[in-house]
Amino acid sequence: MSEPAFDARELRNVLSVFVTGVTVITTVDASGKAYGLTANSFSSVSLDPPLILWSQSLNAASFPVFRDAGHFAVSILADDQVAISNGFAKANPDKFADVRTRPGLNGIPLIEDCAATLECTKVTSYPGGDHVVFLGRVERIKRSQRRPLAFSGGKYVIAHPHDLDLKLSQARSIAELQAVRMATQAIVDLSDELDETVGLGVWGNKGPTIVRWEESRQPLSENLRTGLVLPVLKSSTGLAFAAHLPRGLVIDALENEFSSERLPQSAAEATLDQLDHHTAEIRHTGFSRLLGSATFSEWYGGEINAISAPVFARDGQIVLALTIIGSADKLDVGLDGNLAKALGRTARMLSTRLGYLERNKP
Ligand SMILES: Cc1cc2nc3c(=O)[nH]c(=O)nc-3n(C[C@H](O)[C@H](O)[C@H](O)COP(=O)(O)O)c2cc1C
Repeated sequence: MSEPAFDARELRNVLSVFVTGVTVITTVDASGKAYGLTANSFSSVSLDPPLILWSQSLNAASFPVFRDAGHFAVSILADDQVAISNGFAKANPDKFADVRTRPGLNGIPLIEDCAATLECTKVTSYPGGDHVVFLGRVERIKRSQRRPLAFSGGKYVIAHPHDLDLKLSQARSIAELQAVRMATQAIVDLSDELDETVGLGVWGNKGPTIVRWEESRQPLSENLRTGLVLPVLKSSTGLAFAAHLPRGLVIDALENEFSSERLPQSAAEATLDQLDHHTAEIRHTGFSRLLGSATFSEWYGGEINAISAPVFARDGQIVLALTIIGSADKLDVGLDGNLAKALGRTARMLSTRLGYLERNKP
């Protein structure tokens, strides 16, 4: 056999792109002692007859027990059972000590509160390189309403339904919740990649509101607050919404702002004219920015730069603004800079995941 042009680590990385659930496979030996291991090699095979498979490393300590066992059970873990997954993924003679189980067929323990269980009779096994593939006939099944744990890229992940199949009206409100959920993870990654502070803004009932901050390794300020309502015109988050929301919504928020600033009518009108110019540019470049702003010195202790990018839902409406902020003397918010590129990429990725297509733009 010719040598492959990749090593085991590269192959593992490629395979890890495939998202799986996480199971604990259990059995008992002839004396009734329980064994179990975490496995994501589980897969469905056939509905009629009902068959499933999983594969086990020949190096696993429990391999001889599974090789000799006539039955095994599969517990598909729920999304809050990461500790159980980690516990069963270690060589440990007492894996069941802190885990709640219930006895299944043939005395094989099933993990309590998991997403689903399948109790199986082993039909056969096949050699598979450094693993053995076990084929099982499903004898009994049970599922709960708990959401399954998922695994991808060597990490635990949480699976949420894609809202592409929903009706448009339902999709709108769900899109916002889903967007926040997805973006919460995405800004962790973005902040980590750039080592900058990243905020997540929504359009709340009082206008642009920051619902989440992800700090750089050297925090910008101790005063970053969630729930912070930002000015529409003097924050890059606010400007992102101003550029992409229906004008009526923006004007309502601005009128409140103008009246609290006691801005004379003529100044308010001039501001609105300028805003239209400014928002056209923001829509064109895809970014809103704030340079050397002292508006937030109360919170951040000095002048800041900020750059924001919009995230769109399936219906083409803006749902979120992602914002990078940093001190004015350090943060490069140039439109061709690395920060703008990474921010734009993250915002587009989130929009795509929410089902947004450029052609749906209202
Ligand atoms: C998410 C995840 C999935 C795993 N999938 C498998 C698998 O499919 N087959 C396998 O043999 N080991 C798998 N492992 C590794 C075993 O759980 C680990 O080697 C365990 O220590 C084996 O138990 P034992 O040493 O008691 O036999 C996986 C580990 C993790 C964290």
